[in-house]
Amino acid sequence: MALCHGLLLKTMKILAIETSCDETAVAVLECVGGVGNAARFTVLGNALLSQIELHREYGGVYPALAKREHAKNLVPLLESALSEAEMLREDTQSMDSSVHDAITLALEREPGLTEIFLASVSEMEIPDIDAIAVTAGPGLEPALWVGVNFARALAIAWNKPLVAVNHLEGHIISAIAKEEDGNLLVEHPKLPLLALGIAGGHTDLVVMDDWLSYTTIGGTLDDSVGEAFDKVARMLGLPYPGGPQISRLAEIARKTGGENPFTLPRPMIRSGTNDFSFSGLKTAVLYLLKKNPEISDIDKQYVALEFEDSATEVLWSKTDSALKDTGAKTLVVSGGVSANIHIRRVFEEKIKAEHPDVTLLIPPNNLATDNAVMIGLAGYYHFLKGEFADIDTLRANGNLKLPNLATTE
Ligand code: KG4
Ligand code: ZN
Repeated sequence: MALCHGLLLKTMKILAIETSCDETAVAVLECVGGVGNAARFTVLGNALLSQIELHREYGGVYPALAKREHAKNLVPLLESALSEAEMLREDTQSMDSSVHDAITLALEREPGLTEIFLASVSEMEIPDIDAIAVTAGPGLEPALWVGVNFARALAIAWNKPLVAVNHLEGHIISAIAKEEDGNLLVEHPKLPLLALGIAGGHTDLVVMDDWLSYTTIGGTLDDSVGEAFDKVARMLGLPYPGGPQISRLAEIARKTGGENPFTLPRPMIRSGTNDFSFSGLKTAVLYLLKKNPEISDIDKQYVALEFEDSATEVLWSKTDSALKDTGAKTLVVSGGVSANIHIRRVFEEKIKAEHPDVTLLIPPNNLATDNAVMIGLAGYYHFLKGEFADIDTLRANGNLKLPNLATTE
């Protein structure tokens, strides 16, 4: 039991799993509070493995490889997160044959996972956790499925409730969380809150009108903004992931100054909608490079600058009008692309100058990119509301939107 904001509350522990893209992650959180007041989270264990190096030769995330790697790494990461949380203990009791069969069935579509799962989990004491949270979408569906089936198998093995989490909600709540004395504190922000999600797997604008009640008001009609960064970087001969590479070249060009010899379109900037399209911008870069086959290193820096300016202007313009339309008092910018220094700088300056009453929240890079802690944060709130997933029918959904929690078969 713990004292939190004057209320005696019960703490609970949640095990969270994230496999929506190219990060495999497992975390154990201790959670308290959150019913009409602040919630406090202590990260007891956090294990994460990025597959970036493996996908580099494909110039982007290769779904079949992501799936195989998640299947290979989930059990070692589970052991590592539980061990860090001091919850990994050997158990000599043998597993009931009906449980064994149910696990085998839950993992039937995950070749390579069943054996290592059974070998590890059947030797493990049931850890002192209250629920298992897993990302059900959006993301790469084959990758999501591995996490979902792994979580289902764990829920069966340990007889624990299962909570399905929308990845985007994880990004939003982790941006609201503040570090305090080594814990994460989630206090209700001023509402409405507008969230701009900018990542490799998604680009979206979501409004939170009431605490944890969402409406998706915009998204990308084709490529995500992260994909555009990655594809343009590839055209310029830069390695994956391309976002940090483009940012590096653009920063050099910004310091060099001078007139940029290139212009690129600002797709859909005046469409009057909250939707984005980045595929035309990518194609414009392709034509530009075709016209200039012998492009110099300095000109590559100018292309990176013009591309980054175009993406930033479009993102800001859509966000600006959505802020006005919704009367939002808090703006969250999250996802891998929010690590971009130019985008951060522009958003910080514009908010200060044009929306001084809006609080801008951009998480630190370790929470902005995909991780399992954010899934645990969001999962806890669903646990509090008693929103549990059906172990037999929970399915991964690559196109999941907010407010949908998860779909079933
Ligand atoms: O959120 P995230 O880790 O995973 C996905 O949901 O995909 O985002 C990864 C994306 C990649 O496209 C990567 O190029 C981009 O975030 N990214 C950046 C920067 N750092 C990472 N894009 C622009 N500038 C950056 N500094
Ligand atoms: Zn993400």
